[in-house]
Amino acid sequence: MFTAFVSASAQSKKDASIDSKIASLIRKLTLEEKISLLHANGIFSAGGIKRLGIPQIMTDDGPLGVREDVKEGWGSANLTTDSATFFPNGSALAATWNPELAYRYGHDMAEEARARGKNIILAPAFNICRIPLCGRTYEYYSEDPFLNSRLAVQSVKGIQSQHVAACVKHFAVNNQEVERNRINVEVDERTLREIYLPAFKASITEGNAWTIMSAYNKLRGAYCSENDYLLNQLLKGEWKFKGAVISDWGGTHSTVKAANYGLDLEMGSRPPYNTYYFADKLLDSVKAGKVSTKVIDEKVRRILWVLYHTDMSENLPKGAINTPAHSKTVYDIASESIVLLKNDKHLLPLNTSGIKSIAVIGDNATHTFHLGGFGAGVKARYEVTALAGLQNRLGKAVDIKYAQGYSAVYRPYGKNARTENAKPDSAMIQQAVATAKSSDVAILFIGGNRDYESEGRDRKDLTLPFGEQALVDAVTAANPNTIVVVVGGAPYDIGDIKKNNHTIVWSWYNGSENGNALADVLIGKINPSGKLPFTFPASLKDSPAFALNAYPGENLQEEYKEGILVGYRWFDTKKIEPLYCFGYGLSYADYKYSGFYTNKKSYKPSENITATLKVKNTGKYAGKETVQLYVSKTGSVVERAEKELKAFKKVKIAAGETATVTLSIAVKDLAYYDVKTSKWVVEPGKYKLLAGTSSRDIEQSGTITVD
Ligand code: BGC
Repeated sequence: MFTAFVSASAQSKKDASIDSKIASLIRKLTLEEKISLLHANGIFSAGGIKRLGIPQIMTDDGPLGVREDVKEGWGSANLTTDSATFFPNGSALAATWNPELAYRYGHDMAEEARARGKNIILAPAFNICRIPLCGRTYEYYSEDPFLNSRLAVQSVKGIQSQHVAACVKHFAVNNQEVERNRINVEVDERTLREIYLPAFKASITEGNAWTIMSAYNKLRGAYCSENDYLLNQLLKGEWKFKGAVISDWGGTHSTVKAANYGLDLEMGSRPPYNTYYFADKLLDSVKAGKVSTKVIDEKVRRILWVLYHTDMSENLPKGAINTPAHSKTVYDIASESIVLLKNDKHLLPLNTSGIKSIAVIGDNATHTFHLGGFGAGVKARYEVTALAGLQNRLGKAVDIKYAQGYSAVYRPYGKNARTENAKPDSAMIQQAVATAKSSDVAILFIGGNRDYESEGRDRKDLTLPFGEQALVDAVTAANPNTIVVVVGGAPYDIGDIKKNNHTIVWSWYNGSENGNALADVLIGKINPSGKLPFTFPASLKDSPAFALNAYPGENLQEEYKEGILVGYRWFDTKKIEPLYCFGYGLSYADYKYSGFYTNKKSYKPSENITATLKVKNTGKYAGKETVQLYVSKTGSVVERAEKELKAFKKVKIAAGETATVTLSIAVKDLAYYDVKTSKWVVEPGKYKLLAGTSSRDIEQSGTITVD
């Protein structure tokens, strides 16, 4: 999928020619020049040797789009040329369950990176969502390694199609922000291999990612930037990674260890850059014989290899910023990401011909999400808010009145810090109630924002911030036609809303086209097809790391006590009812599953299982349905999750039509990682295949045997 065909012999000729050019350059470089290629010389830049025509390494953040240029100290460079498209956040992309959109996302963002002269984009980011409170859940994809892998591979391919290197991050187990610079993660080998590494492995071995970013934290006692096991043995050894390992910013802690244990490029944001571990100190270590010239040459080879695939490659595209195609990609991702959680009264889609007035209530109706909090954002060329989207679509025909409802100020640092979940503002609520009462329909826009969910910290709890619950209750009491739209990038406790409200929509930090997509879902121009990429726990204590008291760690040690039972794997196996399960999402259509069968009844480990079923759209609206195929192994010799996602497919089905859906699973992907033999083992015996519309709504099933 999405890969231009290049014959194997043409590819190996090309590789050989690049290798020989690199070897020749390495022969010409002095030791000092080589070392200058291995550390930052600006916040986002490194290297560059004019006399030999070696361009600088120019990185920039994703994943929300190409970040604006910054000066030392992270202040804006105040350019007029660095605005960009704001792409939906990671969990939004994951909620589309659509790898094709992940490819387009990568492709379009990289086209903008090209136009801005960047050769490495620091994206995609896809650490497993282990902790619902993690500040970066919004940036990451999901709690499931398979969904993560399918999206990561296509994002990487999309990015690199523009001769821009993807930098997959953060390798590895950067699953919380609390103490991220010091925490040591202890995780058993099977869990590491089955849950936390698959998307990294897939993005290297299938996606062919050219760079990877080491995480801030430690794994088994060693910082990820100097982790021999992760970097040398796994990544460069087992996975045969040919590109460069880049440290997270300021995430390098030694010279000799980091150099010998696999880091290639030290990045950071604080000058003077010659004081970096991979600058003068590295030169001294080479001279002292602690780091060999062979190790240095190998790093230089990797950096040049990345450059030969990017700025030094042939037919370099020019790139383009915020083309109509980019906006369309954002719109498509946003439209397919929005999750319909509840529609008991069929209030949605809005029957706009019968509606004269709409009360739009809540700060999130006018809030923008391209910036906020700590960490990477985008200087968005434009961002359509939810209110503007509704005005665009309905402004002429319907009287739209707005009330803010709550104040969303969240400032965690400084003299005027304000971090409490602010109390309800009764004057604002009164005004909202009056607006709701005088309107046919009330649409509430609540949830988080990018100040509230942020890199560098985790949320304290799942509670809706800013006194929003009181607003929801008051508006719901004032207008029976109240629709609640919750905007966030991570799970929240919306248990009371689920109990008391009949119409609930989940939306995300959905990029430049946010409001247009949202409005189109509400009026039915788009039939929602998003499915939750993570479990919403009914209570934090139900979530595995909380149930086992395995977060945020003690004395900077964090043991992943839940092992492989992350996310729905835990909830299903332990029979705990979540608030909303993994894979959940309704539609304006109804889908009826039938006729499940597999191409055979028993398989050899080298074969593929082909499962086929029919899905009929019995509703009035055309829609897209994601068929999810889980596998369950009973009577296993090792602990197994009750079920694991092994395949999925999103299909478009017209009203009244039936789609025949075919899903494929390689039998080898049913394996567990056997710690005794350090091998993947496919257990013989029976496996159940469970096809469903979510992880808990299994509609069809079958059993196969592996010989
Ligand atoms: C983040 C990275 C980011 C880097 C550069 C770090 O704080 O962890 O994801 O790419 O900063 O902005």
